[in-house]
Amino acid sequence: MEKFVVNGPCRLNGEVKISGAKNAAVAILPATLLVKGVCHLDNVPDISDIREYVKILKSLGSKITYVTKNELIIDNTNVTSAIASYDLTSKFRASYYLLGALINRFDDVQISLPGGCNLGARPIDQHIKALEKLGATIEVKRGNVYATKKSKLIGTNIFFDLVSVGATMNAILASTLANGVTTIDNAAKEPHIVDLANFLNSMGANITGAGTDTIKITGVEKLVPNSIYSIIPDQIEAGTFMVAAAVTKGDVTIKNCIPKHLEPITAKLKEAGVLVDEVSESSIRVRMNTAPNAFSIKTMPYPGFPTDMQPQMCVLLSMCTGTGIIVESIWNSRFQYTDELLKMGADIATHGSTAIVKGIEKLYAAPVFAHDLRAGAAMIIAGLVAEGKTEIYHIYHILRGYENILEKFNSLGANITHEKDDSEGDLNG
Ligand code: UD1
Repeated sequence: MEKFVVNGPCRLNGEVKISGAKNAAVAILPATLLVKGVCHLDNVPDISDIREYVKILKSLGSKITYVTKNELIIDNTNVTSAIASYDLTSKFRASYYLLGALINRFDDVQISLPGGCNLGARPIDQHIKALEKLGATIEVKRGNVYATKKSKLIGTNIFFDLVSVGATMNAILASTLANGVTTIDNAAKEPHIVDLANFLNSMGANITGAGTDTIKITGVEKLVPNSIYSIIPDQIEAGTFMVAAAVTKGDVTIKNCIPKHLEPITAKLKEAGVLVDEVSESSIRVRMNTAPNAFSIKTMPYPGFPTDMQPQMCVLLSMCTGTGIIVESIWNSRFQYTDELLKMGADIATHGSTAIVKGIEKLYAAPVFAHDLRAGAAMIIAGLVAEGKTEIYHIYHILRGYENILEKFNSLGANITHEKDDSEGDLNG
């Protein structure tokens, strides 16, 4: 089995450049299907989730050329299929964006139902509600989602019952070419929602209010790309390096980031006593030289504290003076990784959606699993401060969303290797 071996402890020092945002890219790639022509994208992260999306688009008839590993030309002139294969889409949650993107172009669309994942149940009722309000008929049967329409979708008012990034993205995708005006209330405000809207507007869409609770989309006849579009930097990758710098008592300048997007993370780090300085419009310096103060976090939709930074922050909290509390309010199964930190000597008690984290002096290396993408990042950070060799298994989760992660950490002074061994991965005996 493949594993990362982190030789700790170390102190991170230097500069790191952040890649394009995964969560923006997995919506912008399917958004290119709204164009019967050629889109040119830059700052696309070279991660396995994107390589999977490229395969899906190619299976539908897209022609995709890599100019560099981060620059793609996507020609959707001859997309002929609106049936995405089960093998390609069933395990890949962001494939649900194909529904909103393809229903504009085809009358019958089929994808497989995005399965649950390690974070807990992943309902899509709000996606279905939005598409149905716009005039599509949705049927979920035998593991597939079928979207059909008899005529062009018609603008409407959509009020989401809860704040959902995915459903907001899908509603934007479906309404951009609809007849008339759509308003989305209780919309998600994440930076990647704004990036999707900016991408579509750059091609002639008429979307206002992205980044607020209410988004207004005035349907247009067609989209015409006119220049290369650069995807925003990844908020969570930047946050991961910020926390890693703090946990290792390092000094790291994070380049190619948007400090505004990092504010919820910066605020918590400052509460912990970490020095965070905005060095320029696109870089931030993180320094730490004492034990962090205890703090508490509750995950919330943006601009609240991101659920995707919760596991990494738990490692920082494990090294703090005192006791902190984490409340996870987005996903019901996002504390599985705490079992791995317990193996490394952390003192964490979980009760439902709450974790009580008592600061300890040291973490010790152990074989651990990456339960999901961000949990995997947390294991790397824990390995950086632990004494000894931390072996991290199930690294495919990490490779889904972090570009060149070992190279980036190693350039800051970490010692992490990518190895293979003969174990089957049953570390629990
Ligand atoms: C969510 C996070 C996002 C994070 C991602 C992966 C929020 C608001 N969203 O985005 O920041 O990057 O997970 O960790 O923080 N839900 C429904 N019905 C639906 C859709 C969603 O009940 O139709 C619920 C989900 O079960 C979840 C919440 O709404 O509890 C947020 O889901 P959503 O934002 O759609 O998930 P992602 O887009 O994956």
